Amino acid sequence: MGTTRSKVAWVVGGSSGLGLAIAAELLTRGFRVTLMARDPGRLEQAQRILLESIPGTPLTDVATVAVDAADSETVAATFAAHYARCGRLDLLVNAVGQSCRSSVLQPNFAQYRQMMDANFFSVVHTSLVALPWLLEHRGSLVNIATLAAKTPWPWIAPYGASKAAVANFTDNLRLETGGQLHVLLVCPGPIKRDDAGTRYAEQASGLSDSAKKPGAGAPVSALCPRWVAKQIATAIERRRPLLVFPWKVRLLILTHAISSRFGAWLSLRLTRRQRGSQTNPLN
Ligand SMILES: NC(=O)c1ccc[n+]([C@@H]2O[C@H](COP(=O)([O-])OP(=O)(O)OC[C@H]3O[C@@H](n4cnc5c(N)ncnc54)[C@H](OP(=O)(O)O)[C@@H]3O)[C@@H](O)[C@H]2O)c1
Repeated sequence: MGTTRSKVAWVVGGSSGLGLAIAAELLTRGFRVTLMARDPGRLEQAQRILLESIPGTPLTDVATVAVDAADSETVAATFAAHYARCGRLDLLVNAVGQSCRSSVLQPNFAQYRQMMDANFFSVVHTSLVALPWLLEHRGSLVNIATLAAKTPWPWIAPYGASKAAVANFTDNLRLETGGQLHVLLVCPGPIKRDDAGTRYAEQASGLSDSAKKPGAGAPVSALCPRWVAKQIATAIERRRPLLVFPWKVRLLILTHAISSRFGAWLSLRLTRRQRGSQTNPLN
């Protein structure tokens, strides 16, 4: 069976979590997708999941590429080879990344570098390589940051700093491409996943209880990845610049923007409330 999907999307970090949910949503909206991640086994599994979940999808509509996005030279060479095969690129989604837990009082410089490599430089490499091809088709570039990119939160400083860099870089891409390219920054709160609450347990040992929780105890319900993927796909169609979920956190972001002192007080109050809570929906 030949493909009827004409638009081409690359999803960096597409082998699991939100990236995989976005890839599934894009397939239903007429995109051929290429998933990029490091582990070939997980890429193969993701490809199988997508082909099974959308019956009738030809194998050629779901490609996989095993690349470390933090390695600029490999990214450039792989993207060029892949572009030569596909002949076009309409959408790049950077859903690559990882979080961490730490205290600013126990500095771990290696962790800061690792977060910048995994979350920031990976996004810079893929975005800058893809930019000329995206501009050719007035395409879209989507970078997934986090709420912590817009408002500080305790126990995740290296993660928040790397994502704040992503947010600033993304806003600059929008400014400098002068409307030729659609650039979307996504700042979601904690997203539901099977290992939520245990993923960073080791790094969080010795820190406050809230550090062990999803989103380091952010007082919001975890989001469904499929719902987030749908919102992102719709925002791409409408060429919107920014998505922040859940909506109510915009108030916290606004508070920090207006008054750092009041914003910090509010964030700490919310964290304390989480520490004392026995009925936290994120537990
Ligand atoms: N989960 C949340 O609660 C949450 C909340 C807000 C924002 N976010 C952001 O949303 C995005 C997706 O998060 P997630 O929790 O869904 O992630 P995830 O399930 O851990 O998936 C991360 C993906 O990125 C790939 N990846 C990681 N490092 C890579 C590298 N150096 N080069 C290429 N691929 C790499 C992973 O595959 P390999 O390991 O095989 O490379 C995987 O496909 C991230 O940017 C994250 O910061 C997540």
